[in-house]
Amino acid sequence: MIPTRLRIAIFGAGNVGATSGFLMAREGLGDVVLIDNRPGLAAGKAEDMRQSLALTSSPVQVSGGEAPTLCAGAGLVVVTAGTPRTVRMSREALLRVNLGVLREVMDAVRTHAPEAIILVVSNPVDLLTHAALRMGGWPRQRILGLSGQLDAHRLRRFVADALSVAIEDVQAQVLGPHSDDMLILPRLCTVKGMPLTELLPAPRIAELLEATRQAGGRLITQTGGLSPFFSAAATITELARAIARDQHRLVNASVLLEGEYGLHDVCLALPVRLGGAGIQAILPPKLEADELEALRQAAGRLQTLIMEAGGMM
Ligand code: 2OP
Repeated sequence: MIPTRLRIAIFGAGNVGATSGFLMAREGLGDVVLIDNRPGLAAGKAEDMRQSLALTSSPVQVSGGEAPTLCAGAGLVVVTAGTPRTVRMSREALLRVNLGVLREVMDAVRTHAPEAIILVVSNPVDLLTHAALRMGGWPRQRILGLSGQLDAHRLRRFVADALSVAIEDVQAQVLGPHSDDMLILPRLCTVKGMPLTELLPAPRIAELLEATRQAGGRLITQTGGLSPFFSAAATITELARAIARDQHRLVNASVLLEGEYGLHDVCLALPVRLGGAGIQAILPPKLEADELEALRQAAGRLQTLIMEAGGMM
């Protein structure tokens, strides 16, 4: 029996969702269906992508439409739908409006794609990942958020530029929330195994960490209000590839903590092993006392927002 191709349903055919679908289709990761309630948008972008596949050997099907039921049979659901942030707006400010969008998505996925792995991208991503878990009743292994990994790639970019080395020789991890509270540990950033702390002076490292923390907001300001999408879409595709090809990749993703670092009932980016069944393992690194305190404070701020959202989550 020839195995059927993974069906990837992407809710939201805006810049992030459509660019992600385009990259996934070109790479042949699976059949892509774009879903967006704006009339014609998903179907039109899908047809445009189909025509672009004429220049590749990718055999995948690409389709699009407005009905959430188009996610039927998806093995991977990517949630990019919702309002993106604009200039000087925090990701957390989007919580209430994007919770409503997420609920519509989860209602459709629960009915039509109950076996799917769900990758939440919409912001505030750690809170929406948590909400998706609560709405869907899914095990934590099958719901993850795009948090940490995008920030880690940004740090890799900045470090590679600062040291004039090839970016593939730079490794990095970013833990905690995808927000100003993200926990960037220089000792987890290495260049061919050499810790960043041995390669750059502390003030320069601090600049690179702040550039990472502010990267999304700075791009929004620079482009006059456009939320970043190339870096997000490339990272989404990296995670989709790990799932589609069962790669057992070690990546940073927002997951539900169930006792890690003494924390419960909160989603934060941790190192996870990602493969065809979703999150196969969570590998929390040992944290120094000050790092643990920073993570716990970030978790506390998220839990306050969850309580303030009340019954909406
Ligand atoms: C970013 O940091 C959109 O939150 C995303 O670019």
